Amino acid sequence: MNKSTIVRVEHDAEIALIIINNPPVNTITAEVRDGLRKAVAHPDVSRSKAVVMLCEGSTFFSGADIGEFNGPPKEAEYREIFNAYEDLKIPVVAAMHGTVMGGGLEIALACHYRIALPGTRFSMPEVTLGIIPGAGGTQRMPRLIGAEKALDLIVSARMVDAEQARQLGFVDDVVSGDLKQAALMYARRLLAVNSGPRRTSDMRIESVTATAEIFDKAEQQARKLYPNRTAALVAVEVVKASLTQSFTQGLEYETKRVNECKATVECRGAVHAFFAERETRRIPEIADSVLSRKIQSAGVIGAGTMGGGIAICFANAGIPVTLIDANEQGLQRGLDNIDKTFQSMVNRGRITPEIKAQRLQLISSSLSYDALRNADIVVEAVYEDLALKRSIFLKLDAVAKSGAILATNTSTLDIDKIATVTQRPSDVIGTHFFSPANVMPLLEVVRTTHTAADVIKTVMELSKPLRKTPVLARVCYGFIGNRMMEGYAREAQRMVLEGATPRQVDSALEAWGMAMGILAVFDMAGIDVGVNVHKANAAQYPPDPAYYQADLALFEAGRLGQKNGKGYYRYEPGNRTRFDDDAALEIIKARANSFGIPARAHSAEDIVERCVYPLLNEGFRILEEGVALRASDIDVVWTAGYGFPRYRGGPMFCAETIGLKVLLDGMLKYQKVFGPMHWQPAPLLVELVQKQMTIAEWHQAKLANS
Ligand SMILES: NC(=O)c1ccc[n+]([C@@H]2O[C@H](COP(=O)([O-])OP(=O)(O)OC[C@H]3O[C@@H](n4cnc5c(N)ncnc54)[C@H](O)[C@@H]3O)[C@@H](O)[C@H]2O)c1
Repeated sequence: MNKSTIVRVEHDAEIALIIINNPPVNTITAEVRDGLRKAVAHPDVSRSKAVVMLCEGSTFFSGADIGEFNGPPKEAEYREIFNAYEDLKIPVVAAMHGTVMGGGLEIALACHYRIALPGTRFSMPEVTLGIIPGAGGTQRMPRLIGAEKALDLIVSARMVDAEQARQLGFVDDVVSGDLKQAALMYARRLLAVNSGPRRTSDMRIESVTATAEIFDKAEQQARKLYPNRTAALVAVEVVKASLTQSFTQGLEYETKRVNECKATVECRGAVHAFFAERETRRIPEIADSVLSRKIQSAGVIGAGTMGGGIAICFANAGIPVTLIDANEQGLQRGLDNIDKTFQSMVNRGRITPEIKAQRLQLISSSLSYDALRNADIVVEAVYEDLALKRSIFLKLDAVAKSGAILATNTSTLDIDKIATVTQRPSDVIGTHFFSPANVMPLLEVVRTTHTAADVIKTVMELSKPLRKTPVLARVCYGFIGNRMMEGYAREAQRMVLEGATPRQVDSALEAWGMAMGILAVFDMAGIDVGVNVHKANAAQYPPDPAYYQADLALFEAGRLGQKNGKGYYRYEPGNRTRFDDDAALEIIKARANSFGIPARAHSAEDIVERCVYPLLNEGFRILEEGVALRASDIDVVWTAGYGFPRYRGGPMFCAETIGLKVLLDGMLKYQKVFGPMHWQPAPLLVELVQKQMTIAEWHQAKLANS
């Protein structure tokens, strides 16, 4: 894109059009700001009677350039540019479409009038990134729609559509047809009735919208939605300042506070997570010249929980998919579940009945492997059993066309052992989806020692239409995510054997930021599922007889988790609320006694340290062994797949913010209490502490030596 054409000024009779074209999503980059600064002073603008601002491509400004968060503050620049538009002596109309967020919405608030196409969506997502709106949003939005509604938008960070925005009062009109023509017409109408500039900064906040109770409520909402975080609370304070300070003072206060926010771990963690997700597709050792294979059709073997979800992913991406199962019953159950999933999407207004029908048409089914003959990729998702998977790959090898990618959704098995039963191990790869496969964003892409570069590249690229965040891993027990889960889950179970209640353990983890306590996760996934995995992989575990005994005791007592209403907790039919259950405690206590496990007291801090330290520690092993390409990939696995708090950046980022020495000392502290079997610091962690090196410095040194 020629930089000079990113922002251009056109003319339509007495109306100047400022048109922005900065693909892909019209981010407000430095070039855009430069263009906007020049455009506002353009002679065509000075000669005009009105200005229309609009963007080409998929959306009006999608927001600020997050890449600039780490550099020098830009707020003063934003302020000066936005004010220049607001100060124009002729009416300025923002004509919007697409997804208008953050800074994109703030520039519209500085315009005098706002119109939007019906599908347009708006949000102020800053607090989820650990900052506050920093380009006037905290001062203009309350002036425009009242403090109460502005606080709700800013604190909840929720999306609203064009009609809701009109009702809230920050969009004047929802227009249809060609946006440019509609905007010109709107501007002409303004001129016809002599409607001049209508500056948001001149408006007064209605006092009924800004009572002490309203601010208290917003503060409570901020605490509830964002425990351990401060940005939303800061946003409430800064909105409050719009009541007592002049507009100019308010903007300066907003700048001061947003820059304080940028220095917090909460913001740095969230920004790190954002960029880490963009980085995962970059595989340095695969040359650009490697061509990916075409994926125009797919097959899925096994119509169970995962197979059904994976088939939905393909259909959502517009890729025809054939689902097969071993028997009619399994197949029909899978197809019924798929239908139900699409129907619930229709019921929630996510898709129309027509789209449901189209997607269902893309899914065919069969009991015969012959139906997979033309598939470009086949994903196997049958029971977690190596012998079964090997037998399936033998059959698949016999029917799949040459060049087809043969993938397995195994979560723990050695994919090399699956690949080598085929005549084409280089076409075999792991595609580890997470449950529910059609919802969870993570896709662990697992390469074996044989997997061809173009197969890796194809699957990494395929993740885009499948709407997944791919992370490349190498084969090892549990790959990246489940391997790190081992120590985390082990300690949680050990603590309930020592007398902590499941609620005590889960509450401590949730208060620390995990999306769901791990014992509740086991109940949700099925206690039997975990037990089967542990039985299948017993040889991989350390020689600790008490290992995973809490799970086993519950399983043997017939407690399978949510599916039969009892696991670590008790559940009532049709309800996922966890109730404490003495029966579970008794079973666990009896098992602990039979192993002679002494009771201990557990503070919330102990619980978090004992669960989280082994998790972080394992990350260093995974990094050193090259199972993950980079530390930030490990972070993505846990933030996108395991509910690790994004505002802590992911396990490796978190290890550095806790301090590597603190982590090492913590591991050694627990080693003293519990012995070295489970509490062995990773060699790389020890090395980094000894050399006082950061993970980034280690990466660089490794690159320099390679
Ligand atoms: N459930 C999860 O949370 C989860 C998450 C990630 C990965 N996985 C992995 O995904 C795989 C599938 O797990 P799931 O939970 O969907 O299992 P599931 O028990 O729900 O479904 C397995 C399906 O495979 C079918 N099947 C069995 N043998 C077959 C054969 N020879 N040919 C065709 N179909 C056959 C069964 O009839 C059943 O419908 C496993 O490898 C598992 O480890 C599961």
